[in-house]
Amino acid sequence: MKPNIVLTAAFPAVARDLLANDFEVVEHPTEQSRSEEEMITILADADGAITLLSDPLTRRVLSSNPNLAIVANFAVGYNNVDIEAAREIGIVVTNTPGVLTEATADLTMGLMLAVMRRIVEGDAEVRATGRCEWEPLKLLGSSLQAKRLGIIGMGRIGSAVAARSYVFGMEVVHHSRGRGMPLEELLATSDVVSLHVPLTAATRHIIDRDALAMMKKGSYLINTSRGPLVDEAALCDALEAGHLRGAGLDVYEDEPAVNPRLLERKDVVIVPHIGSATEEARNGMARIAATEIVRFFRKQPPLHAVT
Ligand code: GLV
Repeated sequence: MKPNIVLTAAFPAVARDLLANDFEVVEHPTEQSRSEEEMITILADADGAITLLSDPLTRRVLSSNPNLAIVANFAVGYNNVDIEAAREIGIVVTNTPGVLTEATADLTMGLMLAVMRRIVEGDAEVRATGRCEWEPLKLLGSSLQAKRLGIIGMGRIGSAVAARSYVFGMEVVHHSRGRGMPLEELLATSDVVSLHVPLTAATRHIIDRDALAMMKKGSYLINTSRGPLVDEAALCDALEAGHLRGAGLDVYEDEPAVNPRLLERKDVVIVPHIGSATEEARNGMARIAATEIVRFFRKQPPLHAVT
């Protein structure tokens, strides 16, 4: 009998193609806010699964089906998985690092440029008026050149952002696992702060009210990592008070919901968690996830295990 593999969303076709011969594959429609109960139902007959970053893979879900042997999470982040529980139960968990590094770094630069050069405000103006009027004082933003970029988390994506930022003439400093510049100094001296750490208990609200107060007046915050790294209510307060000049956000504290206070602000550029949304990156992620499933059932060791 072929093992059952559950795809909890419509992933790129390459995933199904790689699994087609050796597995019974069941694909579920993409669904953002699944409850534990829904996950338990979906995974009831699964021997393995490719899962979404929003799927709650809690201890209760992971222990609900004794046949579930491998979860290939379709993301580099795996904060949706109770890794300790998976380890204890003996479920292999894998992620998809590497293939989305450049795409996410590109989006980080895109958000930085969009917010600092007010690109979205300009787009909205032209659409609303149907006109393009050159004015000496209109939509003045901030140059990237000679600004200090503080990168929190100098891993694969943080390093790729640094490489791009040098080309724009930025000075780059970083804080990473206790190395580099002390966090307080980075916050107090950077013109732009960009977040590239994974979400863990230690990094949740790493940008809280105190951290925001420490940030330089008139600086910008960019987040393409995970929403709960930032205390969003405190961020809204800092923007409303004019302490921060703007923010570029790809991720939100309560996804899929977005704080309505952010939606009202022209100085915030908001996109829907599209850091890895290039054909190249998503196909690469699908290939990695499906390959991990194939390898597991061939008794080969995982290439990207997080357990
Ligand atoms: C996307 O957010 C990912 O973790 O891959």
